[in-house]
Amino acid sequence: MRVYRATDYYDMSRKAANILSAQVILKPNCVLGLATGSTPLGIYKQLVEWYKKGDIDFSEVTTVNLDEYIGLAGNDVNSYHYFMKQHLWDHVNISPEQTHIPNGTARDANSECLDYERLITRVGGVDMQLLGLGQNGHIGFNEPGTAFDKDTHVAKLSKATIEANERYFAREEDVPRSAITMGIRSIMQSRRILVVASGVKKSEILKRAFFGPVTPSVPASVLQLHNDVTLVGDAEALSLI
Ligand code: F6R
Repeated sequence: MRVYRATDYYDMSRKAANILSAQVILKPNCVLGLATGSTPLGIYKQLVEWYKKGDIDFSEVTTVNLDEYIGLAGNDVNSYHYFMKQHLWDHVNISPEQTHIPNGTARDANSECLDYERLITRVGGVDMQLLGLGQNGHIGFNEPGTAFDKDTHVAKLSKATIEANERYFAREEDVPRSAITMGIRSIMQSRRILVVASGVKKSEILKRAFFGPVTPSVPASVLQLHNDVTLVGDAEALSLI
């Protein structure tokens, strides 16, 4: 694992955006695995800025997102689909057919999971997967206790995750209780993994995930078994490492 220490959130975002752009420059028709949440916001902002300056071209890039809430349609402001359009897709030259995210309103969520897994295979697998880190160690919506051999599946959100995501919704009751997420196995099949973390709230879990035992009770600890992981964290997130 490579660790890049950034001074603050802005520096973390720029360093991670540089790594993603390098991937796009080296392989213009690459497949990027994308994440939502607050951590990647600065990365997407930076990528949009570089695109507008003509420094990065997404015309051949394909994206697959990690997860989506069950029950939220793509035009729901709280859906991850909406988030991606708002923060990246609508601002760069990527056509909608090249962007993929699980359908949270699919009539049969389990068959949507199988289809999504087939889609990842069909596009050739993920070249670089961007991951944020949940405070409870989750990656995607793979909550503590999730088996490492799961492909894309329907996941129940833990109480901790519901509480952490409550800030985006009007009321706690509005936070969906389940989601479709790429599984740990799907994530581990990515050729390269880029983990980003910011803030003191992530310091403890970062230490446990990367320097503690590999265990399903800390899902991100599985990343210790991947042979190409880059971690970009700011000073606060890396303060215990
Ligand atoms: C988002 C996702 C989640 C987040 C994690 C961290 O697509 O899958 O695992 O990456 O919850 O979220 P933030 O960045 O908001 O701290």
